[in-house]
Amino acid sequence: MMEGVVVRVSLIGLLLACVTTAPTNKNRDWDIYSFHINSTVTSRYATTIITSRVANRIDASQEIEFHVKIPKNAFISKFRMTIEGQTYDGVVKQKEEAQRQYTQAVSHGQSAGIVSSVGRTLEEFKTSVNVAALSKVTFELTYEELLKRRLGKYELLIHARPMQPVANFKIDVHISEQPGIKFLEIKGGLSTKQLANAITKTQTPTEAWVYFYPSKEQQTQCDGCGDQGLNGDLVIVYDVQRKNSIGELKESEGYFVHHFAPSDLSRIPKNVVFIIDRSGSMRGRKMEQTREALLKILGDLAEDDHFGLIIFDHFVSPWKNELLQANQRNLEAAKSFAREIKENGATDINAAVLKGTDMLNRHPREGSASLLILLTDGDPTSGVTNLEMIHKNVKEAINSKFPLYCLGFGMDVNFEFLEKMALENNGVGRRIYEDSDAALQLQGFYEEVATPLLTDVQMVYLGGSNLTQTNFSQYYDGSEIVVAGQITDNNRAEFTAEVIAISKSNKVKYSETTPSEEPIKASSDSNIQRLWAYLTVKQLLDKEVKSSGNEKEKVKKETLDLCLKYGFVTPLTSMVVTKPQGEDSQVAHKPKEGEKARESMLDTQASRAHASRVNTYSQVAHKPKEGAKSRGSMQVFSGSTAFSKQSKPDRTGRVQHSKIASDTVRIQSRESSISQHAGKVELSKTFSDAVRLLKVTGNAYPESSVELDELSGHSEYLLVPILQFLLPAEGPVRPLCYAIRSGLMVKLFRDPNNELSINGELSNVGWEGYQKIAIHYKSDQLIELNTTGVTFNNGQNAIYFSWSQNINHEKDSVSLLLLDEELEVTIGSTQVFIMLYKKDWLKFLWPILTQRPTGNNITGILARPPIAYEEVQGTTMKLKIDDQEVKVTKRAVVNYNVRSTPVVSCWYIPLEIALQGTPANFTVTQL
Ligand SMILES: *[C@@H]1O[C@H](CO)[C@@H](O)[C@H](O)[C@H]1NC(C)=O
Ligand SMILES: *[C@@H]1O[C@H](CO)[C@@H](O)[C@H](O)[C@H]1NC(C)=O
Ligand SMILES: *[C@@H]1O[C@H](CO)[C@@H](O)[C@H](O)[C@H]1NC(C)=O
Ligand SMILES: *[C@@H]1O[C@H](CO)[C@@H](O)[C@H](O)[C@H]1NC(C)=O
Ligand SMILES: *[C@@H]1O[C@H](CO)[C@@H](O)[C@H](O)[C@H]1NC(C)=O
Ligand SMILES: *[C@@H]1O[C@H](CO)[C@@H](O)[C@H](O)[C@H]1NC(C)=O
Repeated sequence: MMEGVVVRVSLIGLLLACVTTAPTNKNRDWDIYSFHINSTVTSRYATTIITSRVANRIDASQEIEFHVKIPKNAFISKFRMTIEGQTYDGVVKQKEEAQRQYTQAVSHGQSAGIVSSVGRTLEEFKTSVNVAALSKVTFELTYEELLKRRLGKYELLIHARPMQPVANFKIDVHISEQPGIKFLEIKGGLSTKQLANAITKTQTPTEAWVYFYPSKEQQTQCDGCGDQGLNGDLVIVYDVQRKNSIGELKESEGYFVHHFAPSDLSRIPKNVVFIIDRSGSMRGRKMEQTREALLKILGDLAEDDHFGLIIFDHFVSPWKNELLQANQRNLEAAKSFAREIKENGATDINAAVLKGTDMLNRHPREGSASLLILLTDGDPTSGVTNLEMIHKNVKEAINSKFPLYCLGFGMDVNFEFLEKMALENNGVGRRIYEDSDAALQLQGFYEEVATPLLTDVQMVYLGGSNLTQTNFSQYYDGSEIVVAGQITDNNRAEFTAEVIAISKSNKVKYSETTPSEEPIKASSDSNIQRLWAYLTVKQLLDKEVKSSGNEKEKVKKETLDLCLKYGFVTPLTSMVVTKPQGEDSQVAHKPKEGEKARESMLDTQASRAHASRVNTYSQVAHKPKEGAKSRGSMQVFSGSTAFSKQSKPDRTGRVQHSKIASDTVRIQSRESSISQHAGKVELSKTFSDAVRLLKVTGNAYPESSVELDELSGHSEYLLVPILQFLLPAEGPVRPLCYAIRSGLMVKLFRDPNNELSINGELSNVGWEGYQKIAIHYKSDQLIELNTTGVTFNNGQNAIYFSWSQNINHEKDSVSLLLLDEELEVTIGSTQVFIMLYKKDWLKFLWPILTQRPTGNNITGILARPPIAYEEVQGTTMKLKIDDQEVKVTKRAVVNYNVRSTPVVSCWYIPLEIALQGTPANFTVTQL
């Protein structure tokens, strides 16, 4: 191993000499000369088109990226690329079908047209295409959404971040609301002083136009904007007039929509029970923020409200056993109680919700509106923990008598469980993001339900069919009930709408007979028809969450048909984006709330070398569930191509590098054990046995040896150095070792049960170990290590520390202990230990799994259990592993598991045997 260092140094020289094109700042090489966002809102239904025109400014073809963020609530309905006069339209297909059709492609794909969520309100769409020298491309993305009224206003959010200053940048917004626009304001990070003169607002009673045309200079000057141009939101906030109580009824081409949001009603006193989780995981800031919000909320209760307060861990502790009136004295007492809430123990959600239900059930409800609000940050861990059982118990207990709202605090919650429980009980699930404004988010949610105006609302449409939801348990001030449907036989004369509900003092009834007509547009579907389809799909997706068995399948089928008909990318459909010949198609999936985009992409395998021989293949983009983080695009095995062109061995078997060529080098090639994969050759320079050159044109790894001369007829070789690793063997026997291509990204550890995965990027030639390691926990936590330091991103913010620091950081179930350049990461019952090694001027990371969780689907290189073997004596050395005879050679490998780095003699076995799988099993395309 000692000579190895010398050889390594020369190999670095080789590598550097061979890498011809260093990565350059791509943004400078292409020019977004026009970026246009056009948003049209009619009857609160917004259709937004983003058009980006880009020119390749260099005299060579290159990959050009389109990368935008859109509201999570929206459905993508169209994507189109135009290159050299040719258009490529995305086609919406059933998710599974798209997946199947493109599976092969996906398994080779290296970068996906990804839709992933990036924050509370936005998700990201990203794709790229190869554009010929000095040519242009136009990207066009359309998405649609129904604006939801919250706290008395609608918000149209437009995110603008073209990634560079753009000569022709425009945002055009046109809003048309027949009942009249009550007010309209422009907010968001882009609505600042510096940009004020770029914004124009024009308004008539029923229409508004907002134009945002910042100059190229302005695009670099605003807050948060810089060399990369604009980066921020434009938010159009508005509300509409409501002239009559029944609201606005509109129809077009056989479809109607009814917006109902009366405000001329007295508030109904409410009975509210707050159920607050104070389990150990709420410790610290979460608990503080909850207390802060609770104190504020208690302060906002009206005197004729009644309230209850339950805190729970593994015990359920109601403040008082009954609801009490929200008078001064009771509130003061409750506030003192709330100030004293301390975190402690496990989470018994079942008992807590049942207790709250019981309290509300025992309280008289006449003339009041009851509601339960649950706040938790974790899964049920105490009492009844079977999720289905909890759903069943809660549903039976509440029995549709009042709504249950479930607030999931942070990213550790099982949001699906909470959402389903809320939906089953006429409420909604809402995520509270762990951030500095969490108390405000809690208060904001409370405000939305603070003022009930009606209960038991029934919307009745005579002559209407295919209606969206018509029964609502409560209607709150500041919100809006929207119902859409078809007018049976398109017979407007027979159509009537009626609203029956209970207000504070009595039963109320509104009716209306003639809907106003939306002007017929040239487009094939009317706006109202699309609104109907959007709302129906949204509600069916919720219904699917709460149904099961045959019913679920039926709902799915119905949803799917609509999505396909209207071209919506939803959790059930995907958009296949076809690209020019020779390029990968892509598939964009809208993920379900909470689903992770990353996991499904991680396992896709990529090899550029292989890819270039496949004409069209695809990539899959998933829409992530709420909370999943975007990890950027996947990477390809980089550098290999440049390397291969320059470092072919010549006829004499010399590698074109004087340092190596001057050595007495015996170069061997080894043929693949799998004959149809012939051509995969390992060239190994054996004078120290420390450096191996391996040809990888496919994925099989070589076994037997031939002389180099036999190879000289070949024209192209990839010379790829490898790294060697030790493997534990069972018993007091010689350890095993294997070699793996340097620079690869590998799967170190994967525990799906605990949502924990660790990937590593192997060092390049000359180094040992890893250059980078990424630890992903749940959908949002990420610990990234490189040879400089460690970045811990807990989903909200990132902290960075260098290897020279000593750190003890503990939060929730994650603990990081950094001491003397050794980092111990403990996540639940898993522990990894990562050491920083410095050899000469080289630095690398070395991970060890020190504590293994239980579970039988744990995979990854670190998790590989010791291998049992028997030696088979003969002329060539063989081992018997798993009843298979394997030819082996003896080698020396450094054991970096211990700081003294002893050199250990080992049996060298093929990679497939060592890691029990094909490269696909242990490589990843993204850290
Ligand atoms: C914006 O989109 C609408 C609807 O597609 C279209 O009528 C209008 O002309 C577009 N505006 C601009 C400036 O392109
Ligand atoms: C509307 O309802 C009718 C039956 O009332 C049904 O036949 C039709 O398929 C429905 N249309 C859609 C688009 O769901
Ligand atoms: C709406 O509520 C009324 C009265 O409770 C009930 O008769 C009707 O079936 C409900 N409609 C739906 C679609 O659930
Ligand atoms: C892990 O394996 C068990 C059975 O071996 C299976 O039931 C479970 O679904 C697996 N978990 C995941 C997350 O794949
Ligand atoms: C390691 O990561 C930090 C933070 O992302 C970065 O500043 C630093 O340059 C990286 N170091 C190396 C060697 O990549
Ligand atoms: C390797 O991948 C194949 C195909 O995906 C799979 O069938 C096999 O079980 C995997 N092996 C291991 C050890 O994970």
